[in-house]
Order: sequence, then structure tokens, then C-alpha cells
Amino acid sequence: MQEQWEQVAHTPSATDELGERLGQVLKPGDVVLLSGPVGAGKTRFAKAVARGVGVGSEVTSPTFTIVGEYEGREPFVHMDLYRLYDDPDDPLAQLSEDMLVGIGFDDYFDGSHIVLIEWPQGVRRCLDTYLDIVITPLAGGERAFRAQAVGVSACARMKEWVG
Ligand SMILES: Nc1ncnc2c1ncn2[C@@H]1O[C@H](COP(=O)(O)OP(=O)(O)O)[C@@H](O)[C@H]1O
Ligand SMILES: [Mg+2]
Repeated sequence: MQEQWEQVAHTPSATDELGERLGQVLKPGDVVLLSGPVGAGKTRFAKAVARGVGVGSEVTSPTFTIVGEYEGREPFVHMDLYRLYDDPDDPLAQLSEDMLVGIGFDDYFDGSHIVLIEWPQGVRRCLDTYLDIVITPLAGGERAFRAQAVGVSACARMKEWVG
């Protein structure tokens, strides 16, 4: 089951609003993938999602840890896999099982966390249901958001988010 949606965020605060609204409807077991070039607004959006989940502390780009765990209404996990790739701009790059074991990847998919992943191309194959969001910078500071919901629960969540 798949559903698609797209919209342009004209300003950073429009991006924040989209993210906060998504965070408000996310449930444990939900996975959000965020793709787009450096500077697209993935982390800005991720921070807004975290606020929507009720995370009080500021989400940082996890520089040394790759994975950041936060307490919100539900446990919220932010991953930024950028530094695990030889070439992060290769949309087909994969991450090895060893690398995933190294960051404890599987620990976060037992249905009790809300997980958001920046630079997810290397792990998409490991996931069954997820909201796949691509942010594309347009001229003049605008950002195109394209979302594809894969799987039944992601489709349900997308409807609650923007439906
Ligand atoms: N419409 C917009 N939506 C999101 N961010 C925007 C927008 N316009 C400008 N920006 C700016 O672009 C930058 C995006 O940075 P960041 O979120 O760290 O990108 P990424 O994580 O994708 O590398 C931020 O400084 C943000 O304020
Ligand atoms: Mg980022």
C-alpha cells in the first residue's frame, strides 16, 4: 500500500509547522525517512517533528553519536547517517550489517520508539513501513516536500498528518 503527497514550504516557519504537525500524530513504531541535499532543511524539519512529539530539549545534529535518543510524549530517536557513507550523495549507497550493528540500529525498531532518519538510503531495505519524505530546495528559499507513505500504518499516519 502506498500513498503520495506534496506541498511547497515557502518559508522556514512553514517547514516548522509541517514538522510539528507530523510530530503531533506520530506513534511508537512509526519511522520517518528524510532525504534531500545538504542544507535542504532535514534537520530543521526534524527539530520541528521532535517538538511535535513533545521533546523539550533541542535536537542536535548528532555529530559523534549518529543516533540521538530523546524523551517526549513517546521515546523519540533521531539518526543522521551521513557520516557512515563513502559517498552520501549516492542514492543507492548501502550500509553493511556490521555498521548497523555498530550503531545499535535494530534496537530502535521494536515498536516502542518514534524514529526519524536523515540520509536513509542505506537502510530503507531494512524497513517495512515508513513515511519517506524528500525535501528539494527551490529558488528563493522555498522547499518542495514530497512524501510517500509505504505500508498500511504509514498511510494512516500520512492521512492524519496532511490528509
Ligand atoms: N523553506 C525552508 N524550509 C526549511 N529550511 C529553510 C527554508 N528556507 C531556508 N531554510 C534554511 O535552510 C537551512 C537548512 O539547514 P538544515 O536543516 O541543517 O539542512 P540539512 O539537515 O538538510 O542539511 C536552515 O538554516 C534553514 O533555516
Ligand atoms: Mg542535517
